[in-house]
Amino acid sequence: MGSLTANVSLFHGVSYVPPDAIFELTQLYLADQDARKVNLGQGTYKDEQGNPWILPSVRAAKEKIRDANHEYLPILGLTPFRALGTELLYGENSTAVAENRVGTVAACQALSGTGALHLAGAFLYQTLPAQTPVYITKPTWSNHRQVFETIGFEVREFEWYSPKTGRLNLSSILDALSQAPPRSVFVFHASAHNPSGCDPSKEEWQQIASIVKERQLLPLFDSAYLGITSGSYDNDAFAIRYFVDELGLEAVVCASFAKNMGLYGKFRPKLRGGVGERVGHLSIVTKSAGSATAVESRFAQLTRAEISNPPAFGARIAATILGDSELRRQWGRDLATMSSRISGMRKALYEEIERLCTPGDWKPITEQKGMFCVLGLPVEKVLELREKHHIYMADNSRISIAGLNQSNIDYVAAAIDEVVRGYITE
Ligand code: LMR
Repeated sequence: MGSLTANVSLFHGVSYVPPDAIFELTQLYLADQDARKVNLGQGTYKDEQGNPWILPSVRAAKEKIRDANHEYLPILGLTPFRALGTELLYGENSTAVAENRVGTVAACQALSGTGALHLAGAFLYQTLPAQTPVYITKPTWSNHRQVFETIGFEVREFEWYSPKTGRLNLSSILDALSQAPPRSVFVFHASAHNPSGCDPSKEEWQQIASIVKERQLLPLFDSAYLGITSGSYDNDAFAIRYFVDELGLEAVVCASFAKNMGLYGKFRPKLRGGVGERVGHLSIVTKSAGSATAVESRFAQLTRAEISNPPAFGARIAATILGDSELRRQWGRDLATMSSRISGMRKALYEEIERLCTPGDWKPITEQKGMFCVLGLPVEKVLELREKHHIYMADNSRISIAGLNQSNIDYVAAAIDEVVRGYITE
């Protein structure tokens, strides 16, 4: 045994990890005192005035549950939320649900999308053969690698979006699927790919699914933007339902209600009642009802060990909306409001950039889907936009379209035009 040195901290070898880039960007934006500042960083929906939006369906649901008690939820979460969440994801006529291969079983509440991904990862790491790799798209949401690597997985990348064309790279996706070891895990974005906004068409999803089936790969859907992508939840859940019910595949689905219900979890006293709670839903579709019950028991064990039982408020809001026909219709209208404002802003940004004759191919801005779009600028130009024009976007030049509105769009387009022209003449 080596000798112990007195007064040396057990933690002296801990290396420092820099702060999360996206959360750091929000802090930089908040600290900026310039009146022209524009926040196109973190992906949170904003209304036309640039304010967070409390969905009318959420406001009404909160009224309904205001007398709810503060008791513990069951370990797996609020029972109606689990069932309604599954029905929402897989659709009313799902065979997998009818056969109890998922449904009220193998579905649990999680701490928003990230909590669902982490719980899924912890379960898969316990269950799949050692050395099973997890494939993530390149580029992808900045947290994917971290979630799976901290669990212990080897994480590999495959090109999803081509920076050269600004579009989906289908052949690279199909190659990666064909070459991966059987039973590898593939993390797909169910809709509104983050950051690129490049979603496969239905036919392209079908091509992807057929190789997933042939190679016995395990699809894991990160489903953070269902409903807010096109305005229709059913439409946005196409890939999940196709893999699960048309092809009968096993699948993992990690769903968040942060974006599509505006439940990000922030406290905003000035907005009276802007309190959210992190609410997500994890489900795994298996081949038999027996496996589903066993999977569920693992969810319960992992949840109990990690957080004991999940928070109630967000799940009550979501279950109240999903379980009440009038509130559900209102939520449908809320989704359409958010999605159409975002697509209107895409169009307006594209038209203004075209009007300015900014050099480059800007068409992808209107072709891409969901909250984000990658401008394709080098990091020096992203920093120039931040430092000179007070426009904040992720270092990979991803912009959150939801941060645009009629008051800032011309300013943003003019700044992009200026830095792009400087880039070309440099
Ligand atoms: C984003 O991508 O900006 C959001 O999903 C926020 C986050 O947690 O990174």
